[in-house]
Amino acid sequence: MIPSALPPVLAIDGPSGSGKGTVSRCIADVLHWHLLDSGALYRVLAHVAHDAGIATGESGELGRLARAMPVAFIRTADGEERVLLAGRDVTYAIRTEECGRRASEIAVLPEVREGLKALQRDFRHPPGLVADGRDMGTAIFPDAGLKIFLTASAEERAQRRYKQLKEKGLNANLHGLFQDITARDERDQKRAVSPLQPAPDALVLDTTGMDIQQVVARILELARTRFTQAAPGY
Ligand code: C5P
Repeated sequence: MIPSALPPVLAIDGPSGSGKGTVSRCIADVLHWHLLDSGALYRVLAHVAHDAGIATGESGELGRLARAMPVAFIRTADGEERVLLAGRDVTYAIRTEECGRRASEIAVLPEVREGLKALQRDFRHPPGLVADGRDMGTAIFPDAGLKIFLTASAEERAQRRYKQLKEKGLNANLHGLFQDITARDERDQKRAVSPLQPAPDALVLDTTGMDIQQVVARILELARTRFTQAAPGY
């Protein structure tokens, strides 16, 4: 770990449906730390590009767009999270499976990954940051004080996504979700730039058969030991 005066970072990486999103939000809430949902940035970019008719092949244009994205994450008074793009609410538009697929297609482009770097690092503010993504511990915050890599079997991840969508009253097809998850895993793992893989100093946690509370409790236990000096206030 590189000693640093910057606010501490807890990096939580892993594949689609590993529970990262929910786990990261819970942990950020308990610690009163900021949260970066980096996947949402890739999704917003995919959404903007699609609306503007920019094809996946136009990497230079996508990179420029990534650097200039007026995106904001806000929490409403009743605790609901909203993603705003130039003030427009895109929270639901970016959560479709279609947008996720497009996000993973543009995520292979080095120009896009480079373009989103500064935006992601801007989320690092005191008292600390929980960073959720695929390359938080490897490329964006290599000096993170604690790096967790969450995994679960593809079957279980598809089941979790299915349940999530059903709970939101959305249409879902389990077999389709499984195929989508395995295709996305393959693309994320095989891309040349920042492929999805645990950082050498990450702790790999297989969450198959664990519920969210158990995963959160385990990570908080680790965080409390690791960050005692960096963040004595919680
Ligand atoms: O996490 P989420 O499913 O919202 O991310 C959408 C897609 O964005 C992922 O499938 C992945 O291809 C890409 N992504 C990435 N690096 C990140 C976060 C997301 O490549 N740090």
